[in-house]
Amino acid sequence: MPITFDKEKKIFKLDTPNSTYMIGILDKEHFITHLYYGKYIPDRDLSYIFAPISDAMPSKREGHRAAFMDNIPLEYPTFGIGDFRDHCLEIEDANGHHACSLSYESHRIYHGKPKIPSLPATFAEEKDCTTLELSCKDHILNLNIVLRYSVYEDLDVISKSVIVANQAVTPIYLKRILSGSLEFFGWDYDIVTLHGSWAKECQFYRVPVTANKVITESIRGETSAQSSPMMAILSKDATEDYGEVYGMNLVYSGNFYGSVEGYHTLGTRAVMGIHPSNFSWKLNSGDSFYSPELIYVYSAEGLGQMTRTFHDLYRKHLIRSPYKDKERPILVNNWEATYFDFDEKKLLELAREAKKCGIEMLVLDDGWFGERTIDDRGLGDWIVNEKKIKGGLGKLSSDINALGMKFGLWIEPEMVNPNSNLFRTHPDWAIQIPGRPCTLSRTQLVLDWSRKEVRDGVYSQIKNVLDHANVEYIKWDMNRHLTELGSFGLPADQQQELSHRYVLGVYEIMNRLISDFPNLLYENCSSGGARFDPGVLYYSPQIWASDDSDAIERIRIQAGTSLCYPLSTMGAHVSAVPNHQTGRITPMETRAIVALFGSFGYELDITKLSDQEKAMIQEHTARYHKYHPIVRDGDLYRISDVFHPADDACWSVVSKDKKEALLAYVQIHSRPGSQIFSKKIRLKGLDPNALYEIVEHIYDQEHAHIPYAAEGEEMEEKLVLSGAALMNVGIWMKHSFADYTAQLIYLRKI
Ligand code: DGJ
Repeated sequence: MPITFDKEKKIFKLDTPNSTYMIGILDKEHFITHLYYGKYIPDRDLSYIFAPISDAMPSKREGHRAAFMDNIPLEYPTFGIGDFRDHCLEIEDANGHHACSLSYESHRIYHGKPKIPSLPATFAEEKDCTTLELSCKDHILNLNIVLRYSVYEDLDVISKSVIVANQAVTPIYLKRILSGSLEFFGWDYDIVTLHGSWAKECQFYRVPVTANKVITESIRGETSAQSSPMMAILSKDATEDYGEVYGMNLVYSGNFYGSVEGYHTLGTRAVMGIHPSNFSWKLNSGDSFYSPELIYVYSAEGLGQMTRTFHDLYRKHLIRSPYKDKERPILVNNWEATYFDFDEKKLLELAREAKKCGIEMLVLDDGWFGERTIDDRGLGDWIVNEKKIKGGLGKLSSDINALGMKFGLWIEPEMVNPNSNLFRTHPDWAIQIPGRPCTLSRTQLVLDWSRKEVRDGVYSQIKNVLDHANVEYIKWDMNRHLTELGSFGLPADQQQELSHRYVLGVYEIMNRLISDFPNLLYENCSSGGARFDPGVLYYSPQIWASDDSDAIERIRIQAGTSLCYPLSTMGAHVSAVPNHQTGRITPMETRAIVALFGSFGYELDITKLSDQEKAMIQEHTARYHKYHPIVRDGDLYRISDVFHPADDACWSVVSKDKKEALLAYVQIHSRPGSQIFSKKIRLKGLDPNALYEIVEHIYDQEHAHIPYAAEGEEMEEKLVLSGAALMNVGIWMKHSFADYTAQLIYLRKI
């Protein structure tokens, strides 16, 4: 049993294959304390570590309890009882007071993992997971708090969530309910978080734990491009492949808060959950509140192993789409090809050319509905604009199908333009504060999806579209943040529930969409990757990673995104040059190699390409079919520092059985050494005892510098090397006399 309870010592031990997590019930007050989280240990009692802490207590008298609380690692810290560090739970009672304290009551250990009502969460069969429910009580408030931990059998993963039930006769208000807290002895840790902006998502930051808080957060109503709902706490010596790493990732798509605090008695506390800013939840007598799930991943082998564990967890236990283990059709999206300027003839022309190149689906992006000829109008009116698309979407989809192509469609259902029939009919459906001007962002407002009638009103329109055309893919977009938070559906004392109710509304509609159209391939998007989180992955197997598809920028964006999310979840397209976001000109081969390590597609006007470029696309689409299974199901190894690539970047995927590997190398700048031009790369993750053959090596032949070869002479040879040699000695990359060139190497065990 991966979860055991020592009745006498009152200690819970949670074991994954390589990690141990220990919780103790302390003192006659039954405080729930955190004893340990780290590498697996066989011992069942670690309460001795509290000895110096107890000795440090100035007094054991009840009145001095506060000094004690501020000193001890707590499992679920609460506000108002003498623990002044960052806390997880804060309530306001009927008298306006804010104190709350947890004491252990009972527990339950069982196989499997329950669902969290209305929220996405990882799932597991009984054989894969064991769950501990620790029931605690605040006796004064008559509040029941359940701390729920699920331990995965074959992964170093523990998931944590919390349920608060009000058993009193009067309502209480939850002012803060985070999903979990981790405690560490000492400050010898670093913190990794991901931050960015539009077209620059998931940039990697590493800072030391210090005598204050390091915070990652979003109060934008969605997870955001500015911060990702993840944190990792690393031992100081941790690298990509060595050292201890504790990953935290919140399965939630709204406002979130994560902090890591070095506190005065030299411990470190990390907490994460729904952002408490502008949050309050009225809990009536008999009601329960469920927190989102927080995932903990432990790795003793650096960030790389943390990544591979997250990927396995999400591929096996989070993503539900029928496409998760299948090849996704290669799509071409018309956004950067046409923006709003298209008609059905242009779309068919695009589809026809795309088909010849091996592309399998045309996705019609923004601009097909209402009066949407530009981005200041039409959102909310989900009726095809027949001035642009004669015959409507039913005809367009069947014409595209007749070419042998699938048809996909863009929607932005959470939004409304003031210039739309929907807004003119229902101005109260937008989120707003009466009397206060609404901030317009991209000339649009956010619909109040905390209200059922608003959700139903929009969803019925979308369903009608999907019922009358053969749409096999949906791109669900979301292009602004939430401001002037006010709902006509909520009383004054519940207005601060809006942001969370909004997220629950989004989940409800996403769920309806996949239930009504179970075979749909569904991709999420929010101005690129502003809602890239595990919550969304529960509904859609892929998310558009960024509006920046410049191959060089994409290396960092995809590397940061890959910290927690599988490669198959990252929408990655080949777009035109000069790139629309950076102006950079990169070879098509480089764009295709970088996009191959995601969910592959195109975003350009194929009709404007030369015959040579179209021939290259034919090669690239065929290559996708050959290599996508390794990318989708394999293990990712970051070989160079792809988070901050300077002159080059290198990464690989290795199939689970270690029989195949695919390596990408991008030479960003051509920088010779004194004599040696080429760069030697050491592979990772192979079977050291197996022999591997380099079956394919794709590189830019035109600019390749082949050292010491006489003119015309080929230096090519088929290399066969042991996994040990490949990993310890390495192989030479070709040096290229040009910037931005890329190489792809496919190795197979012989
Ligand atoms: C933002 C998305 O990220 C783009 O891909 C595109 O769909 C536009 N919205 C359309 O308005």
